[in-house]
Amino acid sequence: MTQLNFEPLHADFGARVSGVDLTRLLSGDELEQIHQAIDTHSLLCFPDQNMTDDAHLAFTRLLGVPEAEHITWGKTGEVEYFGTVGNVLDDSTKQDNAHVGTKYQTGNQLWHSDSSFRDVPSYVSILHAYEVPGEGGATEFASMRAAYARLPEELRGTIDGLRVIHDYVFSRSPIAPVDPNHAASLPPVAHNLVRQNPANGEKNYYVGSHARSIPGWSGIDSRRLLDDLLQRATRPEDIYAHQWQVGDTVIWDNRCTLHRGTDYDADKWRRRLRQTRVIGTEKGAIPGL
Ligand code: SIN
Repeated sequence: MTQLNFEPLHADFGARVSGVDLTRLLSGDELEQIHQAIDTHSLLCFPDQNMTDDAHLAFTRLLGVPEAEHITWGKTGEVEYFGTVGNVLDDSTKQDNAHVGTKYQTGNQLWHSDSSFRDVPSYVSILHAYEVPGEGGATEFASMRAAYARLPEELRGTIDGLRVIHDYVFSRSPIAPVDPNHAASLPPVAHNLVRQNPANGEKNYYVGSHARSIPGWSGIDSRRLLDDLLQRATRPEDIYAHQWQVGDTVIWDNRCTLHRGTDYDADKWRRRLRQTRVIGTEKGAIPGL
């Protein structure tokens, strides 16, 4: 039986995993170890993976149902499973700092959980690095489980039982215009603010840039609470910054982590990572919101 090895990345969460080649057909036992490690560590880095898009999608399907990338789906109705992160779409293109695509991606430099604005948000994201800048372009992560555990008892009492509205158009239109069809495909959705892992019962809270408001609260009170919760979760000591190496495949649990990209000079460097996501199981929407 293959035994995967785990080395911690941060005191609160995250592990570097060795002993497995994600590009081959994994056994049921290996997959079980990976699912359990997602529940336990929330963030997994598998270095030195000789990945291709085909192998990446096959691995994604082993973990669950791949999620249709929301921009292509919203604009055209076509299902595309990959998103490209960075400024290189193919070997012959590099988008510089002034390119609209680079500007659009700066939205990912706000703390967020992937697809929290969807009716059924993501379980995990799987991001593989093909080209990385010599400087900058790390991805930062924070554990919302550790953040929940640090909350004062009284604040936990306030937020337990609240709902929170996540809204893509709210969060992203200040960065760049959102295509009308894309916007229409993503109406605001409400989720539980405090969520619980079904396997181990660990609680966390669900905020980030897409978190717009608390139903029934004023805009200003919503903002104060959501900003306060975000700030408590993302102090410098709470963050793990992943400095990408070519060949890294990183999986993160969107149910209980936030992440954000960091700046790099797109005039100078090439950055190309490919991402898929696995659909979660928790439906959050209030019908008729
Ligand atoms: C992401 O938000 O999925 C990627 C962030 C990054 O650019 O590293």
